[in-house]
Amino acid sequence: LNYRVPRTRKEIYETLIKGLQRLEYRGYDSAGVAIDGNNNEDKERFIKLVKKRGKVKALEEELYKQDDLDSKTDFETHFGIAHTRWATHGVPSAINSHPQRSDKGNEFVVIHNGIITNYKDLRKFLESKGYEFESETDTETIPKLIKYMYDNRESEDTSFSALVERVIQQLEGAFALVFKSIHYPGEAVATRRGSPLLIGVRSKYKLSTEQIPVLYRTCNIENVKNICNSQMKRLDSSTCLHAVGDKAVEFFFASDASAIIEHTNRVIFLEDDDIAAVTDGKLSIHRLKRSASDDPSRAIQTLQMELQQIMKGNFSAFMQKEIFEQPESVVNTMRGRVNFESSTVLLGGLKDHLKEIRRCRRLIIIGCGTSYHAAVATRQVLEELTELPVMVELASDFLDRNTPVFRDDVCFFISQSGETADTLMALRYCKERRALTVGITNTVGSSISRETDCGVHINAGPEIGVASTKAYTSQFVSLVMFGLMMSEDRISLQKRRQEIISGLKSLPEMIKEVLSLDEKIHDLALELYKQRSLLVMGRGYNYATCLEGALKIKEITYMHSEGILAGELKHGPLALIDKQMPVIMVIMKDPCFTKCQNALQQVTARQGRPIILCSKEDTESSKFAYKTIELPHTVDCLQGVLSVIPLQLLSFHLAVLRGYDVDFPRNLAKSVTVE
Ligand code: G6P
Repeated sequence: LNYRVPRTRKEIYETLIKGLQRLEYRGYDSAGVAIDGNNNEDKERFIKLVKKRGKVKALEEELYKQDDLDSKTDFETHFGIAHTRWATHGVPSAINSHPQRSDKGNEFVVIHNGIITNYKDLRKFLESKGYEFESETDTETIPKLIKYMYDNRESEDTSFSALVERVIQQLEGAFALVFKSIHYPGEAVATRRGSPLLIGVRSKYKLSTEQIPVLYRTCNIENVKNICNSQMKRLDSSTCLHAVGDKAVEFFFASDASAIIEHTNRVIFLEDDDIAAVTDGKLSIHRLKRSASDDPSRAIQTLQMELQQIMKGNFSAFMQKEIFEQPESVVNTMRGRVNFESSTVLLGGLKDHLKEIRRCRRLIIIGCGTSYHAAVATRQVLEELTELPVMVELASDFLDRNTPVFRDDVCFFISQSGETADTLMALRYCKERRALTVGITNTVGSSISRETDCGVHINAGPEIGVASTKAYTSQFVSLVMFGLMMSEDRISLQKRRQEIISGLKSLPEMIKEVLSLDEKIHDLALELYKQRSLLVMGRGYNYATCLEGALKIKEITYMHSEGILAGELKHGPLALIDKQMPVIMVIMKDPCFTKCQNALQQVTARQGRPIILCSKEDTESSKFAYKTIELPHTVDCLQGVLSVIPLQLLSFHLAVLRGYDVDFPRNLAKSVTVE
């Protein structure tokens, strides 16, 4: 949204499309934009809506096909919205994609991230009032509802944001919303509850403030109307607006900073139930209700993210780039935290809570997908270093079970994005039970990092590939660092701590060594890519590698793959073994080595032909191997950081050979912000 910063129609398209491309990893089955008509006069009269099933590229082509961009149109003020959708309600299609609209005249258009859980009731109500629905989405109730509010407004000068306030009081579920309307040309209103939303601010001029005060409207509760059997408060629209920049200024609303970082690194993170409106180049933020604990203002923060960090560089896919970044990303995770000279670890975000954590009853580590695997991978070393019981939990299952949580529990929430809905709900569940909550995320300003009592940013840099790689190894290292910090005073553990800290020091070099196996792994992929199934087996410290390796293979190659605990071999999986079934075994020189040899014997006795990931110079395992991939040896509890990398690379090569889009696997999204 630009104010007194003239932009051509082409520039507006480019900004929106670029922004969408940067967000594609969040969902990608369809996309759409809404912009004003062809010139400054037209924009009062119509909103142009273009939507397309498929990738953003398809939408871009459609836009350029439909629009004559050479007919130069400059806008001094312009507000455009765009969205990529990942279907939850209704199949992927142009009609179900966003922006959703109030009517055929596009009077109100809305983009939405999240889920409206009471949409059926709202839809029934609106249909009874004569509103006709065209999509199967929950979102469509929102533009219809705001049109209803507009059609039934008491006064001609009801503001756009007052209408939005009324709308969100009727909504249940999670949302980040941006509204545009022909009745309020050049104005933007955005709001959130449960889903992330931020505002980027760019101006050549110094802004009049760095803090946006939060405003409240005066509620007139006597004037209550009944809609859908719930109450609607009448809100007085007369409040002042606070100027951020009344000169030339551009505002960027986005659900993730990567969409806007090339324009500005100055952002405001909105809180739940904030209603942000831009009118006449001024930004105001209103709250729905006043509460004593409310922060009285929202600060403009400066982000440190750089554009080049989110570009693909020389790699063919973001996932490949992220795999190869691991020697640096683990260094960034440890930077300023591990002192290799004094063998100490200091996690600044946890230091004030360390006493409390040391006194706790147990640690519960909660996450989804890869983040959960990082918890599985480090559970044993955490039990050893903290001498506390450690539970690892999948967020969804943890909630399904109504797991008992107590005030003296410490609950960790592991999440790359910091926005995963299940993990976030588990966090709120634990907060309600007064446990201490700790976030381990890769996204500064994310919901999980803001809502936890304390935490660690893993600092792996933006991760774009849907299949998580570098975030996993950084989460792994962060959890190990936590264990080291907890055990600083334990005399009996000093030798062990020393060994682990030396292991951390040599980790980046060892990762490089593993990455140099890429060609060998590519050759292996050439042999395997036509298979339908791939088993990955191991135990002890390397079980998590098997789970994570199998998940990578499933996610991007669409092959069936299973991570098998070698200790369970005889209880079922052995039945799968024959000459044909490809099996990868992870066998390292660690305390489980002998037991793994046992499993290896079982497999070869059934004519299985194991591909073995093993320690260098492990002649014992290689004797029985169909193929080996030899890895440098490190301390047992860190070996998983190295052993997962060949499987990341293998899944990548398999997916490429099978002709799939590595960064955007079908049916999956980078950040699952719905239940
Ligand atoms: C999705 C992603 C996975 C990720 C999981 C948890 O399923 O595709 O790569 O591991 O969510 O995400 P989080 O952001 O919470 O780590």
